[in-house]
Amino acid sequence: MNKISHPRREFLIRLSSVSAVLASGATLSACGDGNDPVVLFNYGVASGDPLTDRVMLWTHAAFELSAGDVPLTYQVATDNNFSNIVSTGSVVASGANNNTVKVDALGLAAGNEYFYRFVARGGHSSSVGKTRTLPASSVAEVKLAVFSCSSYAHGYFSVYEAAASSDAQYALHLGDYIYEYKDGEYPATPVVGRNVSPKTEIYSLADYRMRHAQQKSDPSLKTLHARMPMIAVWDDHEFTNDAYMTGAENHTEATEGTFAARKEAALQAYHEWMPIRTGTDKSVIYRSFNFGNLLSLHMLDTRIIGREKQLALTDLGSAAWLSTSRQLMGSTQTTWLATQMATSTAKWQVLGQQVVMAKTWIPASIQKKFDSYFRAPAPDTIGAIRTEVETYKSQYSAALTAGTIPVYLAGGNANAYLKGAPTDNPAIPYNMDAWDGYPVARETVLGAFVQAAAATPSVGKKLVVLSGDTHNAWHNNLTTLNGTKVGEEFATPSVSSPGWEEYFPTAFFPGTIKTLLESTTAVSNVQWTDTTRRGYLKMSFTPTQAKGEFIFIDSVSTKSYAIATPVAAETRTYAG
Ligand SMILES: [Fe+2]
Repeated sequence: MNKISHPRREFLIRLSSVSAVLASGATLSACGDGNDPVVLFNYGVASGDPLTDRVMLWTHAAFELSAGDVPLTYQVATDNNFSNIVSTGSVVASGANNNTVKVDALGLAAGNEYFYRFVARGGHSSSVGKTRTLPASSVAEVKLAVFSCSSYAHGYFSVYEAAASSDAQYALHLGDYIYEYKDGEYPATPVVGRNVSPKTEIYSLADYRMRHAQQKSDPSLKTLHARMPMIAVWDDHEFTNDAYMTGAENHTEATEGTFAARKEAALQAYHEWMPIRTGTDKSVIYRSFNFGNLLSLHMLDTRIIGREKQLALTDLGSAAWLSTSRQLMGSTQTTWLATQMATSTAKWQVLGQQVVMAKTWIPASIQKKFDSYFRAPAPDTIGAIRTEVETYKSQYSAALTAGTIPVYLAGGNANAYLKGAPTDNPAIPYNMDAWDGYPVARETVLGAFVQAAAATPSVGKKLVVLSGDTHNAWHNNLTTLNGTKVGEEFATPSVSSPGWEEYFPTAFFPGTIKTLLESTTAVSNVQWTDTTRRGYLKMSFTPTQAKGEFIFIDSVSTKSYAIATPVAAETRTYAG
């Protein structure tokens, strides 16, 4: 570790002269005695992975006029003038890590807010960030801002800015923090001024670093990072679309090199650019955070470490789909999670993870129309889907009266229906990339929670699952395959990536899709959904309630935005 050469007293005097600038959040570009090279902090600061006595601090620092490692001092204080510094030390923004630097600031007190910054020789300083440690044993309320899916090319990150000015204490990012696509691919016409960098799809370490850097150059994201600590996990697009352990839908080894090499590059850049506590194995990111005895947050990796390849809809009911060894998280992580839920003393057991966990099935007849609609040229139209939905709903009510509802998937029937020879009309999954594609793995996790709760009845454990990935907002019941309710799921809308409004005319909502999805006669687990707007999910936990407020903004295609006036239905609660 390099040491700052100035005596500490002189150092502090220099800093005090610039404290007003720092408090305003501006980046100080030049000061000091004129002999020290100017250091730039172009990507702001971030903090993450808070524990009761420590938090990770992050920044990027580079000399203005030359390459090389940049020696820095980090400081954590109880005030934004840094008169009471409680944690400090020397670090280096090393070229080996793309000039990013992370440090675990130790010796902090539980449940406290802190200010932090990085300072280079000569007094060149980063902006000042605010962070917060986890509370210890007793805590009345915890407020989380939950995000996913921030596609740079789709628009401005106003959702991050909106959350930064909310009363949320901690940020959670459930993945798709970046996207891998080339310029003009997703979307074909990027929002003006939001073309991705590099212009190519990202494959190499240099590519992934450049994409991460561009993301962190966004002023709204910088504002959020400087305002609260973030606990993040990756989803597929930090690697490439629909990734799994050994490959991905958007990766072709013959023309794009090995998936292993691409994964390695993505892992390295992620750990350089995200304020995550990096262990000896960069591929292991599942970890728990205990907020006193109120909640235990278990952050999971359902994407990379143990996921088997996705199956097709035509595999429904197959031996592969129903195999008891089929994995979404891998057996090591699954066993770890079971232990974490069993040994936790907190009431709320919260899983922070990527893909929707609830069983969200729709009638095969409607799925078939959707498939057809998405085929080009589409033989079926929106009108055909609408007609099918209405037909199904009336047939279903008739069947309900007659007591002839098919309640469980018979794989053969599902496939027969999809292939044009219907014998009945079972409800079937529509997203095989989500937990619906891994039904036994889901039963295992839900079963582990039930066991954990039963073993500690005095705690009264409750399960809440937080999800991202779909770009749409959901509040679902979590049930086992036989229909027993085990918990509830809140899935955050995207920051900027498009929801179902991209694929269906807006007029199709909310009438057809929303009523279909929320209808207990069609999809029993969806309580509420919004599939047309961008936003974030604010989760507040108290001993008596988990409350999810879905906060939407009006547009991501312009810099100015308005937060939608919330309506009652957008605040969803689960009683403790
Ligand atoms: Fe996404």
